Amino acid sequence: MRPAFEMLKYLLVCVANAIPRFHALDYIRVFLYRLAGLSIDRETRISGPLILEFSFRRPTLRQIAIGRDCFIGYHCRISASKAQVFIGNRCNIGPNVSIDTAGHWFNHELNKRNSYHKPVTISDNVWIGAGCKILPGVSIGENSVIGAGSVVAKDIESNVLAAGVPAKRIKVLEEFAV
Ligand SMILES: CC(C)(COP(=O)(O)OP(=O)(O)OC[C@H]1O[C@@H](n2cnc3c(N)ncnc32)[C@H](O)[C@@H]1OP(=O)(O)O)[C@@H](O)C(=O)NCCC(=O)NCCS
Repeated sequence: MRPAFEMLKYLLVCVANAIPRFHALDYIRVFLYRLAGLSIDRETRISGPLILEFSFRRPTLRQIAIGRDCFIGYHCRISASKAQVFIGNRCNIGPNVSIDTAGHWFNHELNKRNSYHKPVTISDNVWIGAGCKILPGVSIGENSVIGAGSVVAKDIESNVLAAGVPAKRIKVLEEFAV
């Protein structure tokens, strides 16, 4: 029963991803993702295909939670098969951002069979520039901005601009700092 159910969800996501990129259609896309089991607020906009991890044996889509009033640009990828990806409220995620929760052990023997999975947390009001890569286990604090093209390998505190490969704090955003 589970594989058939997961297959149906997969088809819904495929249909959502095939919807043309028109602003007015973004809400239909989100409706279909919600129908497929993703936890996304209905006021959040996703402006193009969202590439997601699938398993027909596990409800992988339940690993993703996206808050209200967010914007997610086209062609983002969220890989969350065994660890959660949490995106807070009012986040702005640029196009071509990828979020990964899985990695492989360096040991060759282990690598054949084993992967590790660590959750990713993006707090409220975060802006992630185009093309960033968010790696397993990372948390980004609220109100922070990640410059385009950055690789976020470690936690980023709240109220800062961080950028680069790997992303490092560049400045405190005074308007948010208390
Ligand atoms: C981060 C950003 C918003 C600039 O913010 P800003 O406050 O104007 O920062 P500045 O341009 O003054 O740059 C401050 C420093 O950070 C560096 N920097 C800025 N963006 C960077 C990036 N993406 N990667 C690496 N370094 C970056 C600048 O070179 C500068 O370094 P310096 O002090 O050594 O000269 C902008 O560079 C950016 O990345 N915007 C994302 C645009 C985008 O992705 N749009 C898609 C739609 S969401």
